Amino acid sequence: MKTIVNIGELVGIVPSGVLRLSGAEMASMGVLHNAWLQIDGGRIVDFGIGTPPPGGEVIDARGGMVLPAFCDSHTHLVYAGSREGEFLDKLAGLSYEEIAARGGGILNSADLLHETSADELFEQSMVRVREVLAMGTAALEIKSGYGLRPEDELKMLRVIARIRAAVPALVRATFLGAHAVGRGYSHSEYVDEVLKMIPAASELADFIDVFCDEGFFTVEDTDRILAEGLKYGLRPKIHANELAVSGGVQVGVKHKALSVDHLERTTDAEVAALKGTDTMPVMLPGSSFFLGLPYGRARDFVGAGLPLALASDYNPGSSPSGDMRFVMALGCIKMKLSPAEALAAVTLNGAYAMGLSAETGSISRGKRADLILSAPGWSLTRLAYNYTTPFIRQVFLAGVTYIA
Ligand code: NIG
Ligand code: FE
Repeated sequence: MKTIVNIGELVGIVPSGVLRLSGAEMASMGVLHNAWLQIDGGRIVDFGIGTPPPGGEVIDARGGMVLPAFCDSHTHLVYAGSREGEFLDKLAGLSYEEIAARGGGILNSADLLHETSADELFEQSMVRVREVLAMGTAALEIKSGYGLRPEDELKMLRVIARIRAAVPALVRATFLGAHAVGRGYSHSEYVDEVLKMIPAASELADFIDVFCDEGFFTVEDTDRILAEGLKYGLRPKIHANELAVSGGVQVGVKHKALSVDHLERTTDAEVAALKGTDTMPVMLPGSSFFLGLPYGRARDFVGAGLPLALASDYNPGSSPSGDMRFVMALGCIKMKLSPAEALAAVTLNGAYAMGLSAETGSISRGKRADLILSAPGWSLTRLAYNYTTPFIRQVFLAGVTYIA
């Protein structure tokens, strides 16, 4: 048992059993001032104001803020090497599509990954995992998709399984065989190859993803791949509407996707398609920032009563950062979410987009004690305002202090 006392602001409170927040509810996570919070067996047992019930170790928050740890529902953080060379090409004026068309991009990462042993890939990826945990992420989805041939896709999924076993965070794995057409295949040969990879991938993955976008995979490809994945118990979480209004949202909704992600380019038809569904729209402002793409229409989505999650997209090509506090700040500064809405988007709604919101993502009795304790003097608004000032004093994963 441990009790955190003298909490200046305890934010992110949600009644137990609420799995996501939609529309106006996104601003409704509760706040307590001068609060305490008790942890036992790795879980939040109680919280309140005034004098806490006695028991266990006392941690003095000294007026700091306590918030739910971040839930990052979309990353590609298992990759080999770096794409710094392409970064220079990008600075010299080439677009993401132009870099990909020259054989760079995802295929460049696939070449590097092919030459990298599983042990080396694990070690390189763990550096990034430790980085994001220290920045307050407690739940993390990681995709394959830099293999693009059966043995390398499975190598990635096994590395994700090793990461899951090695860290105290919650990790979910997504099979993204359809990230780009692998070298040596025609488009249709590769779609067939992805379909053949699904049974083995389903032994290691929780979800299936397709990059349904202009120049990558069509709505028809996506339809076939998602239908096959569902036969093997893989619920879709797909890439849609990053480079074009792709039809990805609609095909995702058709297959009851847990989430549809990116959404830099949407019309009212995508908003309408998502209404009344169980699919979480996920926007990735870090890739808008890095690639200079439009930001997703967060206000229109929330205004239409939809839920919204924000994730980092941590990857070497379009978002080389897994900093969820920066994602939250972009949600406010660039997408005009209020700090309270952005907090819901990077915590509870992110957890929902991984099927983990009964377990983490909010201050709720019975949930895992996945928490961030800030230094004194912080508020939710200041997190987004002073967006590069270090604020974390301590990260708790299942109630235990995380030290990278
Ligand atoms: O989510 N859009 C597709 N996939 C990644 C980028 C991957 C890469 O460039 O390596 C993304 O942005
Ligand atoms: Fe992505």
